[in-house]
Amino acid sequence: MDRIIFFDTTLRDGEQSPGASLTSGSKLTIAKQLARLNVDVIEAGFPIASQDDANAVRLVSKEIKGPVISALARCMVLDIETALRSLESAKKPRLHLFLATSEIHRKYKLSKAKDEIIRIARDMVRFAKKFIDDIEFSPEDATRTESDFLLEVCKAVVDEGAKTLNIPDTVGYAVPEEYGTLIRFLRDNLPENIIISVHCHNDLGLAVANSLSAIKNGARQVECTINGIGERAGNASLEEIAMNLVVRKKYYNIDVGLDTSQIYRTSKLVSSLTGIPVQPNKAIVGDNAFRHEAGIHQDGVIKYRRTYEIMHPRMVGIPESTLVLGKHSGRHALKLRLETLGVSVDENALSKIFEQFKKLADKKKEINDLDLLVLAEQETMPVVEPVYKLEYFHIVSGTSTLPSATVRIRKGDRIFEDASLGDGPVDALYRAIDRIVKLSPKLAEYRISAVTGGKDAQGEVMVSLVVDGVNVAGKGVSTDIIEASAISYINAINQYFVKKSIRKKRYRGT
Ligand code: KIV
Ligand code: ZN
Repeated sequence: MDRIIFFDTTLRDGEQSPGASLTSGSKLTIAKQLARLNVDVIEAGFPIASQDDANAVRLVSKEIKGPVISALARCMVLDIETALRSLESAKKPRLHLFLATSEIHRKYKLSKAKDEIIRIARDMVRFAKKFIDDIEFSPEDATRTESDFLLEVCKAVVDEGAKTLNIPDTVGYAVPEEYGTLIRFLRDNLPENIIISVHCHNDLGLAVANSLSAIKNGARQVECTINGIGERAGNASLEEIAMNLVVRKKYYNIDVGLDTSQIYRTSKLVSSLTGIPVQPNKAIVGDNAFRHEAGIHQDGVIKYRRTYEIMHPRMVGIPESTLVLGKHSGRHALKLRLETLGVSVDENALSKIFEQFKKLADKKKEINDLDLLVLAEQETMPVVEPVYKLEYFHIVSGTSTLPSATVRIRKGDRIFEDASLGDGPVDALYRAIDRIVKLSPKLAEYRISAVTGGKDAQGEVMVSLVVDGVNVAGKGVSTDIIEASAISYINAINQYFVKKSIRKKRYRGT
């Protein structure tokens, strides 16, 4: 059976989501999880865009050995050289070149005629081919390009050695039938050994539908992101495409090489590290995706699950919230349960998770799979240096008193303490932290949600801050929501210091 190649661009196009920005450590953490999900290609970044991007591609290339690692470049020599340098230690490197081909881009963005576009595309693929074999070419805004010219460009770059042709619906303008027809036209007119890839944006909400239509018409690589994050309305969502192909296998007749039981974990991780929440009704990974509210539905599911469920939540790794472990459970039981949930950790990480597990078990009698996933996720988060760490806080609040907070924070061996009043307990807390770290972040977003069930649920707080013009995000989880608020804020501030130090290094030319 044919197999579809999953090209994940969460770390590149996904990171282009407004408000999202990932440090290279976070990108590596996501890349490791994408490798567990078993994606075929990871697009790790656009190295010419920034030093951070180049570092991330370098790091992912060095550490991740399973999937192909791809880096994006415009059709320019400096872009290509920078991308190739970043890919140096990749075992299976790929260069992804792009150049706009549509009339509107030719005329207004590039001021170039058709023959110049063909010449540049040819020259740059030929140039890159001297250094790398695996080249993918994207005629940007392909779906608004004249189809005969699109074919001409594709043939030219194939001639020069491009192996994958990606046909982006850059502005999310396509509709499924038309896009399918375009892919069929290209498939029929290009050599069989050339892989046709699709890359759809979601401006009209059709990214997944368009991708599936393309697959039905001969595309064999699909470019997508976790949770569908990306420029503007986002990219086609990996989990939705994957589960369409799995659940409707007889219709699509195509194999998916992913370990779909890693989908939920991947979604959670991407959401926490980017600070972009998943809407509750999002297909596959939304909180409500497998919840049944109406009495008739609940009754049906109890009698026979498949009456209202077309896939089992286990297929995408959503844990069933059964009581699994308690205060007296041992390390071995914890390890086994984590493995069942698809989390494999080394002894060091296990010790840390176990320590947190014991602390949580003192506060919360019943620890379920969701709790465990939250603990595991926190422990496998990238370590951010320098680390400000919450040591202690004390809040005074109530209807007849002005809220105040005292906070103690550790940085290495040093302890800092300060206090502040505020409009509310969280405001007082954040003001006290600001005094300690000597910053005035703008709180762009503050979100709180219960991540596990029951009154003693763990609360998750996600904050997005703008610090000195830099966007950062942080997450904190605790059974105490004020503590979760403090941790998320401090994590975001730590991220700011990492970004700042990367910028400084670049300035010094290192
Ligand atoms: O949307 C787009 O056209 C892109 C290309 C760079 C592939 O992201
Ligand atoms: Zn794109």
